Amino acid sequence: MRQIYPVQGPDFPAAVPTAADYLPATVDELARLYGNGAAGGATGSPGRGWVRANMVDSVDGAVTLDGRSGGLSGPADRTVFMMLRSLADLVLVGAGTARTEHYRPVQATQIWPQLRRDGAALPPVAVVTASLDLSGCERLLSAPPGPTQTIVITTSTAPAERKARLGGMARIVEAGADRVDIREALGKLAGLGYLSILAEGGPRLLGQLAEAGLLDELCLTTSPVLAAGSAGRIVTSPARPADAARPRLSLAHVLTDDDFLLCRYLIRYDGYATTT
Ligand SMILES: NC(=O)c1ccc[n+]([C@@H]2O[C@H](COP(=O)([O-])OP(=O)(O)OC[C@H]3O[C@@H](n4cnc5c(N)ncnc54)[C@H](OP(=O)(O)O)[C@@H]3O)[C@@H](O)[C@H]2O)c1
Repeated sequence: MRQIYPVQGPDFPAAVPTAADYLPATVDELARLYGNGAAGGATGSPGRGWVRANMVDSVDGAVTLDGRSGGLSGPADRTVFMMLRSLADLVLVGAGTARTEHYRPVQATQIWPQLRRDGAALPPVAVVTASLDLSGCERLLSAPPGPTQTIVITTSTAPAERKARLGGMARIVEAGADRVDIREALGKLAGLGYLSILAEGGPRLLGQLAEAGLLDELCLTTSPVLAAGSAGRIVTSPARPADAARPRLSLAHVLTDDDFLLCRYLIRYDGYATTT
């Protein structure tokens, strides 16, 4: 057993207006801590990118307060959110999250441009949806054509009329027939050059990634709140058999700020039988 708190760590600003408000040393230190992939350069398994999830929950495991995640966040969590976006080729979300959280394109003020791989543009957002109902996501669909335009990942059988309409506002990627085949989708994203994938939820999308052995890393902020109530957890999926192996997480680092805990885990699937 080791004491990890209190110790010296990155100097988080008290408030987080824009990326420009940080000391360069803070940005450098966080970039070192959150460098891409397991060894700072890994890009996932053959045929797909490295998939890192970023989530926040309460101490009692709630993934929302009053239906949204914002009430659980704080300055340090928002800092890590910006750092992970700065290091990502693409931000992946389920449509439930995009609708509830009113997703919009990644903003330049949320990014440290010096951290972008090969000087690439801002990461686009990719939304996974079968229904193609993206109400509440109007801003997300307003990104201009080009490398930052939103990607909609859907099925070959999704409503054709909606697909045609969205085709004018987003890039459409098809993977799977009735449900999006997440493995196939990651393969298609890799083919487009997106190898560092930041999955920002929600729990049902993360459940599928974990269930398929496709989630490589979890960055989890624990907010100093007892939420109680009935909010769900950060990963949800149908129950696995009682004797089935579970993914194992190894702790890469723990940071703390203002009673928040910020953990980075790497995920292993030793002996794990995937269901997809
Ligand atoms: N605390 C946090 O860090 C955090 C982060 C993210 C989200 N959240 C919260 O989580 C909640 C939403 O999470 P959620 O689990 O309900 O939703 P989710 O995982 O974001 O999205 C689920 C939706 O994504 C689409 N989808 C997912 N997998 C699919 C597949 N294989 N094929 C086709 N479509 C697929 C479907 O959209 P269609 O219905 O359009 O077909 C499905 O209804 C919100 O309350 C949000 O605030 C919290």
